[in-house]
Amino acid sequence: MTQKRWSPSSWRGMPALHIPDDYPDVQALADAETELKGYPPLVFAGEAQKLKQRLGEVAMGKAFLLQGGDCAESFKEFHPDNLRDMFRVKMQMAVVLTYGAGQPVVKVGRIAGQFGKPRSSPVEVRDGITLPSYRGDNINGMEFSPESRVPDPNRLIKAYGQSASTLNLLRAFSMGGYANLRNIHQWNLGFVEGSETNEKYKVMAEKISDAMDFMDACGVTPDTTPQMAQTDYYTSHEGLLLGYEEAMTRIDSTSGRWYDTSAHMLWIGNRTRQLDHAHVEFFRGIDNPIAMKVGEGLEPDELMQLLDVLNPHNEAGRITLIARYGHDKVAKGLPSLARAVKREGRHVVWSCDPMHGNTIKTGTGYKTRPFDNILSEVKGFMQVLHSENCWPGGVHFEMTGQNVTECVGGSAQVVREEDLSSRYHTHCDPRLNATQALELAFQIAEELKSYRKDEGVRLAS
Ligand code: PEP
Ligand code: CO
Repeated sequence: MTQKRWSPSSWRGMPALHIPDDYPDVQALADAETELKGYPPLVFAGEAQKLKQRLGEVAMGKAFLLQGGDCAESFKEFHPDNLRDMFRVKMQMAVVLTYGAGQPVVKVGRIAGQFGKPRSSPVEVRDGITLPSYRGDNINGMEFSPESRVPDPNRLIKAYGQSASTLNLLRAFSMGGYANLRNIHQWNLGFVEGSETNEKYKVMAEKISDAMDFMDACGVTPDTTPQMAQTDYYTSHEGLLLGYEEAMTRIDSTSGRWYDTSAHMLWIGNRTRQLDHAHVEFFRGIDNPIAMKVGEGLEPDELMQLLDVLNPHNEAGRITLIARYGHDKVAKGLPSLARAVKREGRHVVWSCDPMHGNTIKTGTGYKTRPFDNILSEVKGFMQVLHSENCWPGGVHFEMTGQNVTECVGGSAQVVREEDLSSRYHTHCDPRLNATQALELAFQIAEELKSYRKDEGVRLAS
């Protein structure tokens, strides 16, 4: 790849997959992008730098990354209650991981900008009618009609507005008292009442509350120790629509560097990480922490070349590799990559997306993901990294705080195949519901605990 001069628009003219090229009014798209260029940044460079530092700690085996949220945010499901429920289940999971595995947890949402989707087919056929696929609410509409499937630039503006108000509420939740550890019991969601996972959570919350009472008596309170009263919550999405990302990319006056201010962290999808294509070009020039999905077919040599381009200074925290193989493929695909990364001394965060390689279609036509396969991929991922002397630094989930029925299985509140139709709300891929997500957090905490003991020593070697 030629290292020509980078600018926020240097990706234009390069091959770009999964970016719609069928806007009927190209001028209207350009106008929307110009308008976005004048809008306020959604995040600050300093926040993105702070996340990069935290991820640097993850890369060194000293913290754990919890990234998750909707597959695709939507205009329709935009509601403060949904945001609150997502936030609180993430808080619960983070506490479980912090307490259970003794690890600081870096919390990153797939939120406040996660709209555009790469699709496996450009068209959808229903009852003999062929229409362009739904590509995310910031591009076209989900409704199966010719009008709705036409890309509309106004949707970019609307998605920006929704991202801004989402972020505003998340900042209020994380800084304004809701995230206070004293609220640990209140993060419980009503509908998981009575489940085994919920009971486990209550026992743990009781122990933490006791410890806090003790610390209170010693003078260490949320008033004296802000870490107990608030939390850092970061945003991320797939940087798919480069026109939007370009419009949100601004120079930071203090460092003189470029930041994509649409989110703290952005990732390159599994289908858009070609070395000589537009997405890699755009990502190499922004100074945010970035991630890249890695999966079947990516060879160590190509990964090294991608790391050369995307993280030339081998900065810890700059890049997270999100492995997404499938429960039956991770043990075969991941070892050679982990080995090469270790051998070449590259600093990366290794994270596991156990969702996208485990999607199946049921006889009744629902896309689903079996809970057991999700858990099995996480465990397989951890085993591989452990045997390659690398830190299994994080997980990446598609999840919701709602009581949906999209992924089958789970032991606390089993979702059966015949239940899928009752609360199947996703706009794209099937998500873990709140109980399943919490159950996974407990299981992962157990796994981590068993791997952690000698990790420090082995990572240093
Ligand atoms: C996603 O994360 O929603 C996605 C499309 O994943 P991948 O790029 O791994 O297929
Ligand atoms: Co998805």
